[in-house]
Amino acid sequence: MIDPAGPARPQLLAASFREMFRAEPLLVRSPGRVNLIGEHTDYNEGFVLPAAVDKAIYFAVGPRPGGRVALHAADLEQSHEFDLAAPAPSDKRWPNYLIGVVDQLLKAGHRLGGFACLYGGDIPIGSGMSSSAALEAGLAFALNVMFDLGLDPMAIVKLAQKAENEFVGVRCGIMDMFANIFGRPKSVIRLDCRSLDYRYFPFERDDLRVVLCDTLVKRELASSEYNVRRGQCEAGVKILAKHDPGVRSLRDATLEMLAAHRAEFAPVLFRRCDYVVRENRRVEEACADLRAGDFAAFGRRMNGSHDGLRDDYQVSCAELDLLVDAARTVPGVLGARMMGAGFGGCTINLVEEKAVGALEESVVRAFRDAFGREPKLYISSLRTGTEVLPS
Ligand code: GLA
Repeated sequence: MIDPAGPARPQLLAASFREMFRAEPLLVRSPGRVNLIGEHTDYNEGFVLPAAVDKAIYFAVGPRPGGRVALHAADLEQSHEFDLAAPAPSDKRWPNYLIGVVDQLLKAGHRLGGFACLYGGDIPIGSGMSSSAALEAGLAFALNVMFDLGLDPMAIVKLAQKAENEFVGVRCGIMDMFANIFGRPKSVIRLDCRSLDYRYFPFERDDLRVVLCDTLVKRELASSEYNVRRGQCEAGVKILAKHDPGVRSLRDATLEMLAAHRAEFAPVLFRRCDYVVRENRRVEEACADLRAGDFAAFGRRMNGSHDGLRDDYQVSCAELDLLVDAARTVPGVLGARMMGAGFGGCTINLVEEKAVGALEESVVRAFRDAFGREPKLYISSLRTGTEVLPS
């Protein structure tokens, strides 16, 4: 079943906050993200094309006297407290995304006071819509407002990424936090992950929809295999840099360079690097398609992206491939591909509005036949990035 729009949580959270902490909260909305094309390119200093979406985490925060921080996850009905003087990791996983942000702010020399933070939301966890980035960037944004820290938006993005890299221990790139903070309604953002230059492209046509199909497979393998892929990309750069010291990341590599030195690459390594170089090119081409208003061509690039992720980068899985195959049989589906790190989570589909019902029917039937259960579908609308809400 297509998931209806999320419930109106922020006001409920604000009311709970008043009840729990007897104070007026600052309310912040921190969205999930989609990525239209440009997968596993961000940590190769390449190009991505993400957007912030309607699914979000909502924070209610407020200062407290003293140096203690009280965190409460409303959906999990769990709490965690820690002292600003000793932000240590917790055994429960969720607090670490938040403690990591506090840790980074303190390391950067910011003066924080104690605070209370209550959050909840409707970003499906482990679906590849970046609920972790929404936690990190959302709290960094909220604390920046509450304690008047003077961080600019890009500083918030970088700080949130560092929290994930250093405290949570996942070597993710910058895309998720960037989309979370810089999202704009009805737009995708082309980000150059080296220079951090970015450009918005309108991404809306009344007759098109962005539909996510969730395998509900949690991405268990994702973080270990993610780090393996990063290592393979670095190994590829080392080989190319011996011949051309100008190659600092796969962003600088070309298909010609790869072909010229193919003999030095183990076959698997070659395929990984070849994928990244081609995917960067696809993002550029997809942006040209957008400029030309050619969504059909854009969709074909999405398909190319998935094929590369499945065959060469090898981060897909049976459930994702099946959803993509079932989607592509439906007339009016312009493009279908896996999204995010891989090994589970969602596919992203660009679909004519009139074909959404047929898409749902096709993927649900194929998925049920193959796996004996149903995927979840969400129609995503592209929204603004993290923002303060009226409480
Ligand atoms: C995860 C990471 C991102 C990016 C994608 C793959 O979502 O957090 O930085 O690398 O995988 O494109």
